[in-house]
Amino acid sequence: MKRIYWIAAILLGALSGIGAAQAPGGRAQSPASQPPPQTLNPQSYPADLVRAGQTRFTSECGFCHGRDAAGGETGPDLTRSMLVAEDFRGNKIGPLLRAGRVDKGMPSFDLNDADLGAIVAFIHDQKTKGESVGGGRRSVDVTDLETGDVEAGRKYFSGAGNCSKCHSPTGDLAGLANRYRGLPLLQRMLYPSNTRPAPAPAKVTVTLPSGETISGSLASRDEFTIALTDSAGMTRTWPVNDVKFTVDDPMTAHFEQLGKYSDDDMHNVYAYLQTLR
Ligand code: HEC
Ligand code: HEC
Repeated sequence: MKRIYWIAAILLGALSGIGAAQAPGGRAQSPASQPPPQTLNPQSYPADLVRAGQTRFTSECGFCHGRDAAGGETGPDLTRSMLVAEDFRGNKIGPLLRAGRVDKGMPSFDLNDADLGAIVAFIHDQKTKGESVGGGRRSVDVTDLETGDVEAGRKYFSGAGNCSKCHSPTGDLAGLANRYRGLPLLQRMLYPSNTRPAPAPAKVTVTLPSGETISGSLASRDEFTIALTDSAGMTRTWPVNDVKFTVDDPMTAHFEQLGKYSDDDMHNVYAYLQTLR
């Protein structure tokens, strides 16, 4: 089977020495003379994915953030963003893109999982280049997709990973590896989203100041308002500051999972999923 190397793009990037060095310098809050915040969990991506992401990024985001993600007229330098530094495989960037920060000039994007995964890979790749230019050079282990341990992955799936809470290898994931192979399988595992019939909408429970609670399915949510559709089909909206609410969203849980994977877990689970034929 073809082996996919995760690291080539990063090595190339370090050699060619581009990235933050060419950012429009002198932004008040993050002068180019200061090293960018370090990525919390170093992560690497296959070169193919990074290239696909560059194309998407240029057309969707480059207008505001610069083609190299290092900042443009209207969008900040993402290689110096704390949110990007704290992101692991899209667990922070994904929800931000879906929600946007419309009031601050950052639109929301309804990206499919392949595009999201690719854009995340490109941003991190640019950030890694920025870090090496900024003096924070780190070595990254050469890892490839085929190094996972199937048994460890099986254990993680039903144990620490909690995957069996929502999935079953003989139920919804039966035959998964016949439907997706290689990179697409990894993308489905990390960034499942709206390319399939939408999973059940998130459930919301709102508690009013009076103590009354109202439940329904999530209609919309942003920084200021929360809206649900109640059992009678009515949409009801509240300012987020006036009520307490909990959202039970399987996709949010999936994004949170991204932050919990170690690189080993990820390779092991991937190896295990490849056996679901
Ligand atoms: C119309 C301009 C515009 C476009 C297009 C745009 N952004 Fe943004 N983006 C912004 C602005 C402005 C902010 C800063 C918002 C703020 O101040 O909180 C931002 C913030 C962000 C942040 C958070 C940075 C931080 O540290 O808080 C990320 C990540 C991001 N954008 C990624 C993207 C990606 C990926 C795309 C393309 C899919 C994109 N943006 C498209 C304008 C844009
Ligand atoms: C809280 C529920 C939840 C948990 C926990 C969860 N997932 Fe998911 N997962 C989802 C939802 C929702 C989807 C998207 C709907 C779909 O495509 O079936 C999904 C989709 C997937 C897909 C794509 C399935 C397909 O047929 O395309 C894979 C692979 C996957 N998850 C793997 C995992 C793994 C591995 C774990 C554990 C590390 C995990 N999930 C944990 C909810 C969850």
